[in-house]
Amino acid sequence: MADDPFALFDTWLAEAAGEPNDPGAMALATADADGRPSLRMVLLKGHDSRGFVFYTNRESRKAGELAANPNAALLFHWKSLRRQIRIEGAVSQVLDTESDAYFESRGRASKLGAWASDQSRPLDERATFEARYAAFDARFSGDVPRPPHWGGYRVAPERIEIWEDRPGRLHHRRLFTRIGDGWSEGLLFP
Ligand SMILES: Cc1cc2nc3c(=O)[nH]c(=O)nc-3n(C[C@H](O)[C@H](O)[C@H](O)COP(=O)(O)O)c2cc1C
Repeated sequence: MADDPFALFDTWLAEAAGEPNDPGAMALATADADGRPSLRMVLLKGHDSRGFVFYTNRESRKAGELAANPNAALLFHWKSLRRQIRIEGAVSQVLDTESDAYFESRGRASKLGAWASDQSRPLDERATFEARYAAFDARFSGDVPRPPHWGGYRVAPERIEIWEDRPGRLHHRRLFTRIGDGWSEGLLFP
């Protein structure tokens, strides 16, 4: 029987706690309707057997690509540990209640930043961004609500590959492929 790749992920993420910063940072690859890829870093903000969750502006470039092509790939690379995890799968928006709960956990500055940033759109000068931030700071003197254009996405993995460094570049790759509710496991040449 295959190991549970989510349990392996948990173990490796916990062991990555000593990385210099952001062990939950992951590269997110999307592609537009013509299959042209783009890539950027995001932070993992939740994961369970349903998938891996990140939060962003739903009017950003990545969001536009996900609307056109709701598939993504994630990559974790923990340099100090010489380990990599690749995840691929279909993407869906998380429920508003889930986005609300995460937004509520953010600090005030991060909340206001989500309002102030027209993410991925041209900005004439930094002062414009700072003025927008100040305007939202004044508008929301108490609680800062979640912007309607900001929320989470979940990548439901169909493929999880874990890679670890071994001496002499004889590295070790394990590929987990979703089959129904379970997983099949195999090795790949490194
Ligand atoms: C370590 C790191 C973590 C980041 N985390 C996020 C994130 O969780 N959500 C987000 O929207 N952008 C995050 N960013 C910024 C994105 O990489 C990117 O610049 C932004 O989301 C716009 O991407 P887009 O134009 O492709 O939509 C992060 C950047 C770095 C370097």
